[in-house]
Amino acid sequence: MKCRRCKGRAVIDLPRHNAAFCGDCLIHMVHGQVEKAIRHFKMIESGDKVLVAVSGGKDSLALWQILAALGYETEGVFLGLGIADYSSEAEQVVQRFASDRNLTLHVTSLTDSFGFDIPTAAAKTRRSPCGSCGLSKRHILNSEALRLDADLIATGHNLDDEAAVLFGNVLRWESGYLARQYPVLPASPGFARKVKPLVRLTERETAAYCIVSGIDYQETECPMSAGNRHLRFKTLLNEVERDAPGSKSVFLHQYFDHIHERFAGDASKDELMDCHRCGTPTTSELCAFCRLADRVSDPVRLVAPTVDAGVGHV
Ligand code: FES
Ligand code: ZN
Repeated sequence: MKCRRCKGRAVIDLPRHNAAFCGDCLIHMVHGQVEKAIRHFKMIESGDKVLVAVSGGKDSLALWQILAALGYETEGVFLGLGIADYSSEAEQVVQRFASDRNLTLHVTSLTDSFGFDIPTAAAKTRRSPCGSCGLSKRHILNSEALRLDADLIATGHNLDDEAAVLFGNVLRWESGYLARQYPVLPASPGFARKVKPLVRLTERETAAYCIVSGIDYQETECPMSAGNRHLRFKTLLNEVERDAPGSKSVFLHQYFDHIHERFAGDASKDELMDCHRCGTPTTSELCAFCRLADRVSDPVRLVAPTVDAGVGHV
């Protein structure tokens, strides 16, 4: 198997590109795909300060490394979710990554700041842990971006993640969610811009990128992910992809480029007010995160203290 670009020995075969790549050319291809996504969706402008949300997994660490390599001004933020050994291992992985590369990392924790963790939230609300996890991440990472004066938050959602979410949204014709599913969500009062620069790369490609570029990532899956319906959708889409390579990418990117705008009118137009507790714009007196916090722990602190890890800190 030969590398398409340099004709050297290939280390990975990518049927959807009808090509194979050696390690160096895979890195070149991955950087090219990210640059293309950033340009196409106008994600980052020159001079922007990018806050990269890092979990310790392959996608977010690959994203941070790629954005730093492409010359963007980046800082990382890690949110501890209190999922026993899984979260502490993730934090160590992220700390090591930042320290080895002399990158600035900010560490914050759901337990330290709000007095509850994801397992407790899941048990008390009797809802899927991923619901509380996603809500907490969105809320706290947004607050961190505003506090740190970052222009945008970049997350490691990849092509597989987004195709699975799109599949779920289409299956139920969730037109409001479809209106919001796009690789860039512009800033609005109280909300930082959010971007997903890995939307042109699959999980397999980001994992291979980590291996060839020496990124030590957390391989353990979240122990609370059992039953997550997006994992089932990923498996289904991978079966389709096996028979018809490139299908996932076409499904997702045709949606972004040609269908998404048709749902624009379905975006929520509800009047927003400031959450009485934290100030986040919301449609009711308390935002969804503060309501979650109320259900699992009482009282909730007003301000989330954050530990800044500083440059190259561990
Ligand atoms: Fe859903 Fe961890 S809480 S994957
Ligand atoms: Zn609130």
